[in-house]
Amino acid sequence: MAAHERVIASCADLANSGDGIRFVLEQDGDAVQAFAVRYRGGVYAYLNSCPHRGSELDWLPGVFFDSDAATLVCSLHGARFEPDTGRCVEGPCRGGRLVKLAVRERAGDGAVVIDGRGTVPAGE
Ligand code: FES
Repeated sequence: MAAHERVIASCADLANSGDGIRFVLEQDGDAVQAFAVRYRGGVYAYLNSCPHRGSELDWLPGVFFDSDAATLVCSLHGARFEPDTGRCVEGPCRGGRLVKLAVRERAGDGAVVIDGRGTVPAGE
């Protein structure tokens, strides 16, 4: 494991379009809220900060998906985001993006690991 990687969950903890995992990421000395979800078999992670007003998205702890199970939804004003890209497809920040984090499932021990260094550019 690279020195900056850290385990945030077990792969089995994340079900497709199910509850997500909240975790804290340290960036530039600050603790920031983040989350990971599974969607269509892949794991995706973002800062837990809506591009509209910076609110945390989950309307209950760990509940990020809308009832359609196909979009993430912000609890404050209802913006909806593609789970795999973080792009806002509906709501007051339409066209904006969640800040995507580097996350992967590690073969061998079934861990979900985050790159603690920070974010990856939008679109990756
Ligand atoms: S803060 Fe998320 S839609 Fe307004």
